[in-house]
Amino acid sequence: MRIKTVWAAFFSPTGNTASAVCDVARTAAETLHVPLRMLDFTLPAQRAGVHSFCETDFVVFGVPVYAGRVPNKVLPFLRAGFCGGEALAVPVVTFGNRSFDDALIELRNTLEELGFHTVAGAAFAAGHAFSEKIAPGHPTEADRAQRRAFARAAAEKVRQAQTLPAPVSVAGRDPVGPYYTPLGLDGKPAAFLKAKPKTHAERCRSCGRCAAACPMGSISKDDPTAVPGLCIKCQACVRVCPVHAKYFDDPAFLSHVAMLEQTYTRPAQSQTFL
Ligand SMILES: Cc1cc2nc3c(=O)[nH]c(=O)nc-3n(C[C@H](O)[C@H](O)[C@H](O)COP(=O)(O)O)c2cc1C
Ligand code: SF4
Ligand code: SF4
Repeated sequence: MRIKTVWAAFFSPTGNTASAVCDVARTAAETLHVPLRMLDFTLPAQRAGVHSFCETDFVVFGVPVYAGRVPNKVLPFLRAGFCGGEALAVPVVTFGNRSFDDALIELRNTLEELGFHTVAGAAFAAGHAFSEKIAPGHPTEADRAQRRAFARAAAEKVRQAQTLPAPVSVAGRDPVGPYYTPLGLDGKPAAFLKAKPKTHAERCRSCGRCAAACPMGSISKDDPTAVPGLCIKCQACVRVCPVHAKYFDDPAFLSHVAMLEQTYTRPAQSQTFL
């Protein structure tokens, strides 16, 4: 099939998905000898309008796994903001060493509904946004080599295809199952839906970086210690703060993080589908 552009399209509050998608897209573009273009739709301003593709586009499309699924607050942006236009697509999810559950199949189905044709898919194990103690060190050199090998195989599949392929077969339940229920250290559900980050006011320099990095636009630009909007617990504000002023102290959230740190110590395997 004739491809003229490879796209790296991603939602990535703490950078893992951007890294995986860019690795795959860069190698695919090199293999197909076509230009690479970026579409980072993490921030609200980047989600304005509709992004339309066409049949000569090859789109590596990534989101992180939240509660075993495509992040529920991101799904409406995907549905309203993208038009596949018969482009070929590679759904990619990154997950923080627990499980990707039904996220990849949900992303594949969403892309197909939007008018993309999925040709390959991948769930890449990454660090966990909640804690640097879970699966530290990703991406390793082996992770990056796996991404490149996957990209070359996907690009070859596209190059050799004479007709539009059937939707790629990936792991997960179809129809997708319920969202994963986060558990605490006591093994009981940890309810932290309403938790929001707090700020060490004495450390904060009012630089505004946290407000600029929030994918939900939820942190006040005038007073970055205030979070009037919805919080998806993505940790972008915590990671970006240069003086470590942002933190979560919600007991249920901290108990869930401690449970993850205690339980998910084995390295999870990435999975690719072609
Ligand atoms: C709200 C939230 C829920 C998450 N749920 C899961 C999950 O169900 N399974 C898992 O393995 N990792 C989970 N993670 C970890 C992320 O999937 C992982 O860190 C991902 O690579 C983050 O992507 P990003 O760096 O592009 O933001 C979750 C992270 C967040 C912030
Ligand atoms: S990034 Fe940190 S220092 Fe800057 S405004 Fe936000 S909390 Fe304050
Ligand atoms: S306030 Fe919530 S949604 Fe916004 S960056 Fe921080 S953790 Fe993410």
